[in-house]
Amino acid sequence: MKDEITSRDDRVANLKGMGCSRKRVEDARFTQGKGNYVDDIKLDGMLFGDFVRSPYAHARIKSVNSEAALKVPGVLAVLTAEDLAPLGLHWMPTLAGDKQMVLADGKVLFQGQEVAFVVAEDRYAAADGIEAVEVEYEELPVIVDPFKSLESDVVLREDTVDENGKATDGAHGPRKHPNHIFTWEVGEKDATEQVIDEADVVATETMYYHRTHPCPLETCGSVASMDKVNGKLTLWGTFQAPHAIRTIVSLISGLEEHNIRVISPDIGGGFGNKVGAYPGYVCSVVASIVTGRPVKWIEDRMDNLMTTAFARDYWMTGKISATKEGKITGLHCNVTADHGGFDACADPTKFPAGFMNICTGSYDIPTAYLAVDGVYTNKAPGGVSYRCSFRVTEAVYFIERMIEVLAIELNMDAAELRRINFIKKDQFPYQSALGWEYDSGDYHTAWDKALKTVDYDGLRAEQAERVEAFKRGETRKIMGIGLSFFTEIVGAGPVKNCDILGLGMFDSCEIRIHPTGSAIARLGTISQGQGHATTFAQILASEIGLPADSITVEEGDTDTAPYGLGTYGSRSTPVAGAATAMAGRKIRAKAQMIAAYLLEVHDDDVEFDVDRFVVKGAPERFKTMKEIAFAAYNQAIPGIEPGLEAVSYYDPPNMTYPFGAYICVMDIDVDTGVTDIRRFYALDDCGTRINPMIIEGQVHGGLTEALAVALGQEIAYDDQGNVKTGTLMDFFLPTAWEVPNYETDHTVTPSPHHPIGAKGVGESPHVGGVPCFSNAVQDAFRPFGLRHTNMPHDHWRIWKTANSLGMHD
Ligand code: CDP
Repeated sequence: MKDEITSRDDRVANLKGMGCSRKRVEDARFTQGKGNYVDDIKLDGMLFGDFVRSPYAHARIKSVNSEAALKVPGVLAVLTAEDLAPLGLHWMPTLAGDKQMVLADGKVLFQGQEVAFVVAEDRYAAADGIEAVEVEYEELPVIVDPFKSLESDVVLREDTVDENGKATDGAHGPRKHPNHIFTWEVGEKDATEQVIDEADVVATETMYYHRTHPCPLETCGSVASMDKVNGKLTLWGTFQAPHAIRTIVSLISGLEEHNIRVISPDIGGGFGNKVGAYPGYVCSVVASIVTGRPVKWIEDRMDNLMTTAFARDYWMTGKISATKEGKITGLHCNVTADHGGFDACADPTKFPAGFMNICTGSYDIPTAYLAVDGVYTNKAPGGVSYRCSFRVTEAVYFIERMIEVLAIELNMDAAELRRINFIKKDQFPYQSALGWEYDSGDYHTAWDKALKTVDYDGLRAEQAERVEAFKRGETRKIMGIGLSFFTEIVGAGPVKNCDILGLGMFDSCEIRIHPTGSAIARLGTISQGQGHATTFAQILASEIGLPADSITVEEGDTDTAPYGLGTYGSRSTPVAGAATAMAGRKIRAKAQMIAAYLLEVHDDDVEFDVDRFVVKGAPERFKTMKEIAFAAYNQAIPGIEPGLEAVSYYDPPNMTYPFGAYICVMDIDVDTGVTDIRRFYALDDCGTRINPMIIEGQVHGGLTEALAVALGQEIAYDDQGNVKTGTLMDFFLPTAWEVPNYETDHTVTPSPHHPIGAKGVGESPHVGGVPCFSNAVQDAFRPFGLRHTNMPHDHWRIWKTANSLGMHD
């Protein structure tokens, strides 16, 4: 075959492999409205199902009367818990080892809970049917405060007590109270308390990381189609983990797994919202089995915000101790976690509070202790990792606020306090006091680069001048410098530590090279906008020497993709990206043997060079990967099977620990509470960078969601359990208007155990961004006496902070 590109640089460029800002291949369809989302799926005879939802946060269901609804033209069926009970489907397992009602079984536990499922010819008839279902409720006392829940005589879940009213054991051990879900402890309690008792300086703070919601552009939904003739169920849905959904559907329905095909088509954002299983999935399947027709269920925006997986809702109390010079000696953290009506967190089984035990952050803290109590309340279930790896956002917010209050206590500059306590480069791999082994890092280099770039000393001088000017009455605007340094923990497994419902958290890639030298790679992950089709082809291009443009990446169809645990917690690159590289290496190993045969030399006498195998010392003698692929299918090679395919199931030896240094400069008008982000600098280190342009996009997106959470986004309840922010009129989604210009930067500290040295990045900017925006607000008020104020820092709350500090006097 003719080799048309001769210069090595040209050959490298032609591959569009790792390190190049290859344009996103998926955008052709997304930008032209040609994406294929769940709601785009239209099947012959398809029905539409939707829920009757509870207006009450806590009530007994006295009766459900469907008679009138069944008379509504177009309504075919109304499913209730009674209909699902004989099938054992009125409750379903959650990913956290709890169980959740699919349809209200005797009572409801949160506003918007699914009470009945109306199946109709179209969504309009379904809506009319919903109106006609008569439900008689008896209101019960509502608990929206987890602390009150633990003291209350009101038992929220009847399945948490025995016949004598005594609390039974939960999935993670004994309950202290019927409304208590678990206690999770890590670290050394007594030793930590002793260190803190004996310390020169101790800072204590309680902070609330408010309840919020991932709010993806596309809401959740599914289409179930039961083919009764062949006994096959096909389920399309907004699934971040399609294989796990297939296994769960098989386990709870009794259908054999090979008769279930789960397909995640294009997904319009997930951010953790689409990891778990929802009643809508179960009901669409049951309705399809009952009616023999395909059934679609799609949430509207209010359904999504009010009922599907929320995030955060952590009350965190910390104590941090240090020497007079600022060296941290101990950290104590107590969390009360509000899980709502069911524990539907999506965490690996052994980690009921996710990776909250990374709350020692980027600092060398010798002694630490963490205790988390999970609690039921009358709020929606969830507790998902909204653009973070299992509660890392909470952990990083906690430690980055504790550092700031410690700096106040020590009367020290917070940047300097961080520098004194960073884990040093030569301490990696670093064993943290709460059980993690950080793979690699160079925090001082990143921090110094960040501070220098923004002229940190200059900013502090300007801030001091501004404080004086404010005090003299010359300005009503104050200035905050938000600092944050974060370490993420991404890439769950390894299997020995991490499983969800017993499913080990490895991931996979299968590659088939076609005879003409193009390829298809299938992975166990599923992109929700991150650009996997672009970047995984780049990994392969570099590994197997075929152009990325000749490699199709396919995800999300359980009939074709190898088993994998899906995409969330920035695990795709650390786990499936590693599987991709490893599968590519298997291809390359076989290609080497084929090349050696074709070139009539020993296997060891050829070496890989960009897109070919070359005879060592004779560069003019080579076979390109294209030629090798052709030979693999068309030439009888002694001792070598025809074909060129490989599969890799990758169980990572450890997680990866990306990190970053963020600085936000913010002006605040104390009379209006309006914030103006003057500058935002974000330095990320995600190890080897596959596609710098995609990384930049991920950073912009993550920071924007961080801005949202820090400055306004929340799921708020009144004391009757009514959701006050159930529409986009009330729930803050930033637009171009609020978003500042982000300056991105990077250092590169490869992961030593990842085949290509890459760490995840998708969630880092969210994890590091939230404390950075929040610290900017808090830092602005620090010279006026503020120690801590809770997020979200919307204009009204900022105004109140200024007012409480006497700044309006
Ligand atoms: O699991 P998820 O895809 O959400 O997160 P990720 O693994 O952090 O990857 C997000 C996107 O950034 C993917 O398209 C990755 O391939 C890309 N990425 C990269 O180009 N270089 C890295 N070192 C890490 C991620």
